[in-house]
Amino acid sequence: MRLADRVAIVTGGSRGLGPAICAELAAEGARVVVGYRRSEREAAEVVAAIESSGGAAEAAAIDVRESSSVNAVTRAVVARHGRLDALVTSAGIHHDALLATMPDDALCDVMRTNVEGTMRCARAALRPMMKQRAGAIVAVASVAGIRASVGQSSYAASKGAVLALVRTLAAEVGGYGVRVNAVVPGVFDAGMATRTPRDRAEAVLAQVPLGRRGAARELARAVVFLASDDAAYVTGHGLVVDGGLSA
Ligand SMILES: NC(=O)c1ccc[n+]([C@@H]2O[C@H](COP(=O)([O-])OP(=O)(O)OC[C@H]3O[C@@H](n4cnc5c(N)ncnc54)[C@H](OP(=O)(O)O)[C@@H]3O)[C@@H](O)[C@H]2O)c1
Repeated sequence: MRLADRVAIVTGGSRGLGPAICAELAAEGARVVVGYRRSEREAAEVVAAIESSGGAAEAAAIDVRESSSVNAVTRAVVARHGRLDALVTSAGIHHDALLATMPDDALCDVMRTNVEGTMRCARAALRPMMKQRAGAIVAVASVAGIRASVGQSSYAASKGAVLALVRTLAAEVGGYGVRVNAVVPGVFDAGMATRTPRDRAEAVLAQVPLGRRGAARELARAVVFLASDDAAYVTGHGLVVDGGLSA
């Protein structure tokens, strides 16, 4: 139990990669707050699955585009449980189009959710974490942030920004005992990668040395590592979990 008695918030916990991340954190003993925006039913199912395995979880509506929503949930979690040990920012969206034809609202929404959303959640979590002089933030980035991904310019820019944020934030708050890292997923068997058009997905998979998609649990184990004391001397790092795609 590497996270016994710890409290963790996971944004985007309701579907895609989120449920596996929530499940693995809970399996290590953390009480997990399963964040969702619209998928209340899916979030309730994630909570129920964790509880049926003997873990502790609760669902919370968090829209990462709204500071009031992020701040209110973070404050409520700290008021209820007395602490916040880990934040995992899995909420994210993409809008695939060539930049030359990308509508303004799509461009803005991706940046607002992926970049500003991560910053809003990190800012809210840092307040209790700096006060308790301990905590771990794990942002979910993407290989699109470190290698070209044609048709995903706004998404790639947003994930590159997340990785830049992680490095600077780690330097800002390391003195308070707070660590800030990212996982950098490649192509996984859950979430947005499963909705990629087949020909495009096959072309990317052909470049993966391990020759398969990652299992959501394999990413979740990397998140657990970064959230736990096993990574006590790791901060400002982007842990690539991509089967070698970006190697
Ligand atoms: N799946 C992959 O292979 C892959 C690869 C590389 C990186 N990633 C990254 O991994 C993360 C999770 O992706 P995924 O594949 O699980 O995506 P997904 O299946 O599309 O799920 C997205 C999640 O984000 C939540 N979300 C979206 N907008 C939100 C907002 N404004 N506020 C709060 N929550 C919001 C959704 O909640 P609702 O359903 O309630 O709207 C949902 O839980 C993302 O950051 C993504 O960029 C995924």
